Amino acid sequence: MLFKNLSWLPLASASFIVTVISLVGCGKSGPDAQPGAGAPKKAKSEFTIGMSQCNLGEPWRVHMNAQIKAAADKHPNLKVIFKDAQNDTLKQRAHVEEFVSAGVDLIIISPKEAQPLTEPVAKAMDSGVPVIVLDRRVLGDKFTCFIGADNKKIGRAAGAWIAKKLGSQGKVVELKGLMTSTPGQDRNSGFREGIAGSGLEVIFEADMKWLEPDARKEMESALSRFGKIDLVYAHNDPGAHGAYLAAKAAGREKEMRFVGIDALPQEGVAYVSQGILSATFEYPTGGAEAIDTALKIRAGEKVPKEITLGSRLFTKDNLAAGGEALK
Ligand code: FRU
Repeated sequence: MLFKNLSWLPLASASFIVTVISLVGCGKSGPDAQPGAGAPKKAKSEFTIGMSQCNLGEPWRVHMNAQIKAAADKHPNLKVIFKDAQNDTLKQRAHVEEFVSAGVDLIIISPKEAQPLTEPVAKAMDSGVPVIVLDRRVLGDKFTCFIGADNKKIGRAAGAWIAKKLGSQGKVVELKGLMTSTPGQDRNSGFREGIAGSGLEVIFEADMKWLEPDARKEMESALSRFGKIDLVYAHNDPGAHGAYLAAKAAGREKEMRFVGIDALPQEGVAYVSQGILSATFEYPTGGAEAIDTALKIRAGEKVPKEITLGSRLFTKDNLAAGGEALK
């Protein structure tokens, strides 16, 4: 054996070699990796997933976690550790690092922002932990699988629907989702494509960061600046609802229409049936698909780099029929 007799080596060098050997021995990673030092011992067949959620302040994210849990609960040896970054990018970066050092078998992340989460995800991949990115993207292609709906397509469909509804003319307010996140960027550029060539005029736009209170505040500014607004396009239903509340407080909610995205049954779809929103576009969470994909990765199957989820349009006219699929 190579290091059978170390007596000829100075003591310091010998212990250096032993350290290197043990470090190399600990470097194993990927689905068969053993948990790092200090990680709880687990049964061999157990598969642990670390799930980093960017916040739990919005119903849509609570729904995503519930769907992940429901799908995972069907598999007794699957364990999901949920962490909530409370809309703090630095916290979410730390989550990813903590999951890697705790020796999880796979990470699911729904990142707050693209750029700052790119590096920790890439590092997790480098250390052999597969990463499924859900809903909002990271940059580049260093992840195992991205799952989400096509936000550009949804934005385009919203634009086309709005242009048609308004007879190709009118004054529109656009309340954008966080523009450092990819759904915000795509729902904006898709919408602009959808209304291109129509006579619609976007008279006011602001980043409400996906948050209802911010949307309400931005809408108050829009209302004070413009005497006539025909429609508010918000990148999510909480944003559309915030705008509606601002308009209602100003006694102007009947003057305009409101359109949002998400279509949760208890949120956007309920707003449509109450006549608060004219339309909402479904944005599925991908929670069940993430667990499905994790199980395939666990089984050593090849998974697609990207899984694109469908969307549906809900209006008062098609609610009873369960909405209508986007083509
Ligand atoms: C929730 C949310 C949803 C939106 C999604 C976009 O945090 O704002 O309302 O559709 O994120 O990533």
